[in-house]
Amino acid sequence: MSGVNEIRSTFLNFFAENDHEIVSSSPLVPRNDPTLMFTNAGMVQFKNVFTGVEKRPYQRATTSQKCVRAGGKHNDLDNVGYTARHLTFFEMLGNFSFGDYFKERAIELAWTLITRDFGLKKDKLLVTVYHTDDDAAALWKKIAGFSDDRIIRIPTSDNFWAMGDTGPCGPCSEIFIDRGEHIWGGPPGSPEEDGDRFLEFWNLVFMQFEQVTKEDRQPLPRPSIDTGMGLERMACIMQGVDSVFETDLFRNLIDATASALGSGPQEQTVASFRVIADHLRSSAFLVADGVLPSNEGRGYVLRRIMRRAMRHAQLLGAKEPLMHRLVWALVREMGQAYPELVRAERLIEETLRLEESRFRKTLARGLAILDEKSASLKKGDMFDGDVAFTLYDTYGFPLDLTQDALKSRGIGVDQASFSDAMERQREKARASWAGSGEAASEAIWFPLRERLGATEFLGYETESAEGVVAALVKDGKEVDSLKAGEQGAIVLNQTPFYGESGGQVGDTGVLLGEGGVKFRVTDTQKKVG
Ligand code: ALA
Repeated sequence: MSGVNEIRSTFLNFFAENDHEIVSSSPLVPRNDPTLMFTNAGMVQFKNVFTGVEKRPYQRATTSQKCVRAGGKHNDLDNVGYTARHLTFFEMLGNFSFGDYFKERAIELAWTLITRDFGLKKDKLLVTVYHTDDDAAALWKKIAGFSDDRIIRIPTSDNFWAMGDTGPCGPCSEIFIDRGEHIWGGPPGSPEEDGDRFLEFWNLVFMQFEQVTKEDRQPLPRPSIDTGMGLERMACIMQGVDSVFETDLFRNLIDATASALGSGPQEQTVASFRVIADHLRSSAFLVADGVLPSNEGRGYVLRRIMRRAMRHAQLLGAKEPLMHRLVWALVREMGQAYPELVRAERLIEETLRLEESRFRKTLARGLAILDEKSASLKKGDMFDGDVAFTLYDTYGFPLDLTQDALKSRGIGVDQASFSDAMERQREKARASWAGSGEAASEAIWFPLRERLGATEFLGYETESAEGVVAALVKDGKEVDSLKAGEQGAIVLNQTPFYGESGGQVGDTGVLLGEGGVKFRVTDTQKKVG
């Protein structure tokens, strides 16, 4: 038992045998948290259950949650391919108690699973606890028989987990494995903690408080449990390999890439194979959850991921679009655990093929400019931000693609002049609207569009969702409020309502707000994109 698929099912079955409901992963686009770019932890779908706003028919649950950390607060994109453990897409295995069991049972369950079912050696394991959490320290001593030096007290926020500025929170306890002296690094809390020797693989969060305001923290009436184990890290441990890219699932994806290209990874090319394998996973899962490449928001993060992979495909000498030819291998590896991948297989292939065909038209020319303009630069120099902007604007190179291309030579990109060039172009665009006939009647939408960005459309996937009210408009002016009985327009940050276009009328329906507020939607319009 050590393949990724077996580890996942062992985890879920263990908790099912212990009376947990196996709950499907929620989509990567969070339906219940419009402030979050992508689902980035197992507890996201249960956020409202912890606070008591939402009720579910079970008090214990277990999941294998799809997560993306690329864009937004947690952004691992730049590191992928160059480190042993960064991924843009990963699976978080978790068990949850909603006011049912608490610390003692959570620690017992975790300890039984890792030492009995996963067979980890007790003398290689150690844990951290929050520095004031004497209960957790005593429980680890009792249940695992750890001596004090294996229970490390950490005084920082690393061991106090919070959902946000307010909401449920609590101390947490992380489980580490010592992978041996041959790997550089020290135990958590030591100056060498960033090394790879001591690998954290499971975080147990003891949700026991509610942060009501910044100063006011109250005990929760029903303390709860939220845990997160990195599946890919667990696979590394179980398979005795140093990097997530050497686990079975990634080796199979890399083999598929090698056979599509007709040559396998070498020392100088291995990073490209790894980038492609990771980005294939995040791209495919995002498309399956309704995100399509675009120049805004989530769609732009997807485009950046795709194009970064496509440049690496070109570096490896791909003569034709490559990514869509790897989808079958991913479906073979992960389709059973995530049937949405099987359902969306054709859409994923088509989206990747189109994007890569389109991007390849400008890629070679853009890379030639990049080479020419960076030829005289040496390690530590800065690449001209104006040129980086031209690459972005004319050749479709997201800024991080240019950065990635120069990284191996130790060259950075002058981001200030890149931003200046972007701002100058916006000015020009503003000036050209001012003269257009449409601008007179629709003037209000342009500054809103600029300030708020585009509304994200979720309607391919769902007919109801949460969103944040970004602006209110009445009689061509922005207003602070609309009173009962008044008519106006509401701009949302994301919506499942389809806006009138292409001969199709806009959706109608209802918006519900806090405190029983109700807004009847009689039409949906798409303004300035
Ligand atoms: N929510 C916890 C985490 O993300 C388990 O680490």
